[in-house]
Amino acid sequence: MSEPLRARAVPDQGAAVVISACPGGPLLVRGPARVLDAAGRPVDPGRATFALCRCGATRTAPFCDGTHKLRRSAPGRDGDDPGGADQDAGA
Ligand code: FES
Repeated sequence: MSEPLRARAVPDQGAAVVISACPGGPLLVRGPARVLDAAGRPVDPGRATFALCRCGATRTAPFCDGTHKLRRSAPGRDGDDPGGADQDAGA
């Protein structure tokens, strides 16, 4: 007599988190990432792929709400650096 098949959740050790910068916009996060607030509590991004604000203008921090598009169209603003993060990264 054979053992019955059993299923259990196993973390996907091969899955990678990929973070990519949108030109003039947020950081897109893809993969099994967790977001924690300043107190270390989990924050539900509400979707598997989400965008983190890097311009500082969002009203739904830490997530992008699209406000960067308004800032980008303001006079004197263009390019890929909505909040100065690229300079800090040495780019
Ligand atoms: S990057 Fe989108 S609101 Fe800041």
